[in-house]
Amino acid sequence: MILDTLRFITCGSVDDGKSTLIGRILYESKKVFEDQLQALVGDSKNFGTQGDKLDLALLVDGLQAEREQGITIDVAYRYFVTDQRRFIVGDTPGHEQYTRNMATAASTADVAILLVDARKGLQTQTLRHSRIARLMGIRSVALAVNKMDLVDWSERRFNDITLEYRTFAEAIGIDAITAIPVSALNGDNIVSSGSTSDAWYIGPTLMKWLEAIAEPRQTSKLQAFAMPVQWVNRPNADFRGFAGRASSGTVKVGDRVRVSPSGRESSIARIVGGNCELPNASIGQSITIVLNDEIDISRGDVIAAVDTPVEQSNQFEAHLIWMNEHHALPGRSYSIYLHRKAATAQITSLKYRVDINSGASLVAKMLEINEIGVVTLALDRSVPFAPYEQDQTLGSFILIDRLTHETVGAGMILHALRRASNIHQRAFDVTKEIRASAKLQRPRCLWFTGLSGSGKSTIANRLEKQLVAEGRHTYLLDGDNIRHGLNKDLGFTEADRVENIRRVAEVAKLMVDAGLIVLVSFISPFLEDRALARSLFAEGEFLEVFVDAPLSVCEERDAKGLYAKARRGEIKNFTGIDSVYEPPITPELRLHTALISPDEAAQAIFDIL
Ligand code: ADX
Repeated sequence: MILDTLRFITCGSVDDGKSTLIGRILYESKKVFEDQLQALVGDSKNFGTQGDKLDLALLVDGLQAEREQGITIDVAYRYFVTDQRRFIVGDTPGHEQYTRNMATAASTADVAILLVDARKGLQTQTLRHSRIARLMGIRSVALAVNKMDLVDWSERRFNDITLEYRTFAEAIGIDAITAIPVSALNGDNIVSSGSTSDAWYIGPTLMKWLEAIAEPRQTSKLQAFAMPVQWVNRPNADFRGFAGRASSGTVKVGDRVRVSPSGRESSIARIVGGNCELPNASIGQSITIVLNDEIDISRGDVIAAVDTPVEQSNQFEAHLIWMNEHHALPGRSYSIYLHRKAATAQITSLKYRVDINSGASLVAKMLEINEIGVVTLALDRSVPFAPYEQDQTLGSFILIDRLTHETVGAGMILHALRRASNIHQRAFDVTKEIRASAKLQRPRCLWFTGLSGSGKSTIANRLEKQLVAEGRHTYLLDGDNIRHGLNKDLGFTEADRVENIRRVAEVAKLMVDAGLIVLVSFISPFLEDRALARSLFAEGEFLEVFVDAPLSVCEERDAKGLYAKARRGEIKNFTGIDSVYEPPITPELRLHTALISPDEAAQAIFDIL
């Protein structure tokens, strides 16, 4: 008999008896260890792609393996089998700060066991964990009211807790709730029925409930066939197959399909699964598809039924779970992996933060580690997707820091923003090249970065004079000046500086487009934001000039008297004092202004132009 696999998580407050419960289940059922399980299902690394689930956790896992670095998600998976099916239980630390661990485990789970201490009743943690589980798509929960022996198996107490939980859970969309009175310590109602004192209870034991879950969680509500391409298989010139796992529907040889985002159509020539030719395949199956036409398909494209192609967009509203010590800030750009499609995404706004304890929406300027928010994202290209509620595979994504390559966030798409598809870029007849050649120059962005007082503006000013004397068309964008106009609404918090740099980078880009040589003189303390600025320009168009002087020298100069004020605590977040400066790693030019004069520095830049 082939056993199917049910994945579940256990959650609840610390001390509610989670580890006792898991211990009891493992003790009383037939345990298997991981290596035995591997023999059953094959290599555990491929576990998800071979017929089970490719989901958030595995996506994180998989990408991590590829990049050989990233976050450590603290989830212990345990495996066991009974006569009825196989089980994988995700066990996460119960502490408040580990939202990301629980979310990761919940993203792969079919159902959840929520433990409550019969003496204490529902706790903040109980509600919090329920919200996270629901957010990740779990709709079926066993409420295990534990330590019943300590309340003399009071039916009344059990009913009160159950009723209170039902009212709460139904309101947040958990629609299948089974309440079971248990004693994890004594083993009552875990695998075998309880003590004589619970004669009033006629429902299933926890294990019976786990075995009876009829249908593991549906990963997709989409009816028609769709399969995101995980890789292109080309062992020889005659064979070109597209491998992936069907995320919805069924497909058979001969079916017509459409590929997103290209919109190209073809029909199915062959379906290969395992090492066999298949006449058809359906949701959950890992297959390789061969098409009748040679069309361009790359990793992350989606092959779908021709009359119900998968939607695509480049702007989304999404839930975002933040997993990194560095805050999520609107204006920042990250690499995004939506199923397997890679792109660049900017957090365009943080609509609100979700207080996961109370469910309230709170105003926020950033997300800290383990916080959850609703954000809008703008991608650099259109990608195929579905809302997470419709399809888990096509609706989940991860964000990766572009410099450190760490996974910093995981998200679930709520919906696309239509705005994107209604704004089209227009091509005009006069181009950047035409404008530039009219000015007889190569447009550039010279980006000066360095501490306050390092000499950025002084050098930029001299250089501009020199360029103009040579007949060049220039413009100087200076932090102090721009902050009096365009950016006068911004201060010096991390979030405000990110936006300060984003705006000035966009302005510089327009000026380069106009054919100018633009000098940008901003402290621009963060690596990531300078990387974003650089990404707006063509190769060789952006020159980063690191105006480097030791803090002690800048502080000594203190032309504006600001360092003295910052030292006295009269200015907060002052760069170099109580706000970081991240020096460039490979600037095009580095000027040591403690050693050379402003004129020499200007000349050095002039020479490389
Ligand atoms: S940036 O960090 O956002 O790039 P920007 O270059 O626009 O800074 O502005 C820096 C200028 O603002 C400094 O030269 C200084 O005159 C002034 N300033 C006022 N408060 C601060 C502060 N907290 N940190 C740095 N500069 C400050």
